[in-house]
Amino acid sequence: MFPKLILVSAALVACNALHSFGPRSSKQGSFNEYLLFTRASLNPEVFNSSLASIQETSMVLTRNTTIIVHGHGGSGDTTLNPTVQNALLQVEDAEVIVVDWSQYSLQSYTNAVNAVPSVGAYLGSLISQLVEAGVAAYGSIHIVGFGLGAHVAGYAGRGVNGQVARITGLDPSGNQWGTNSNRLKSSDAKYVEVIHTDGFGLLPNGIGTNLGHVDIYANGGEGQPGCFLSSACSHQRAWELFAASLTHSHLNAHSCNSFAEMRLNRCRGILFPIGTNAMSKFGNGVYRINTGRRYPY
Ligand SMILES: *[C@@H]1O[C@H](CO)[C@@H](O)[C@H](O)[C@H]1NC(C)=O
Ligand SMILES: *[C@@H]1O[C@H](CO)[C@@H](O)[C@H](O)[C@H]1NC(C)=O
Repeated sequence: MFPKLILVSAALVACNALHSFGPRSSKQGSFNEYLLFTRASLNPEVFNSSLASIQETSMVLTRNTTIIVHGHGGSGDTTLNPTVQNALLQVEDAEVIVVDWSQYSLQSYTNAVNAVPSVGAYLGSLISQLVEAGVAAYGSIHIVGFGLGAHVAGYAGRGVNGQVARITGLDPSGNQWGTNSNRLKSSDAKYVEVIHTDGFGLLPNGIGTNLGHVDIYANGGEGQPGCFLSSACSHQRAWELFAASLTHSHLNAHSCNSFAEMRLNRCRGILFPIGTNAMSKFGNGVYRINTGRRYPY
């Protein structure tokens, strides 16, 4: 009886190890779809992570690459994508890759959470292949992830052979990630910025703790103006603010001496631009920005 028990627990341990260290061994990410948008191709170029497929795209090394990852309930068509993509292409001759992982993101929240490691690992492989193919460099890659997509970005950044320039986590999901050591973290890219918009209150979508090099709490990180206590509305505001930051320069946050100061709206420190697509952005600490209720906030 005892050896059997030991066997069972060994198998459980092995299973857990597989789950934490081998996300590529789960196949959810193989359903990822990648859509490339540039100023010249507003109809997306659909491609996959094979070198042949990458080389057929119009990607070139000289342009920066921004990768957008939607969250739970999202897909390739989700409003976040065209909003961020159009704002970015308006101001920069960039390459925008939209990741569509709707095979799993449209399922239950728990199924979507379970797919995150694999979806992120496959995205990491794609990024490594872009570099391998000579159409992108780690120093000019920015992954922008919303909700669960922020944690996908973390897994992707962790899975590449180099270090991507930036990850921006837009109100990263908190549910099932609060104590998960594999959530988005500052070691996932050279620079990790997090914009929190729904991190507190009753059943928030976001996470009210610091995850990146820079953590920006919009209006204290909850109850966004104009959202009338709608948690979903506050959550979405994260990408609306990010999109606005690409085309407008008034979105600057004040640095805070402490988390408590941030919550009490007493931050008076230096101003720091939130979001943008700058590839060499650096900073540290907690910031607060108070915004308006309507675009461009
Ligand atoms: C990737 O795309 C190429 C076409 O560019 C296609 O030949 C190949 O079968 C695709 N691979 C997968 C795994 O879908
Ligand atoms: C790429 O990003 C860098 C740093 O943000 C910027 O200076 C440069 O102009 C961008 N490249 C293009 C082609 O816009």
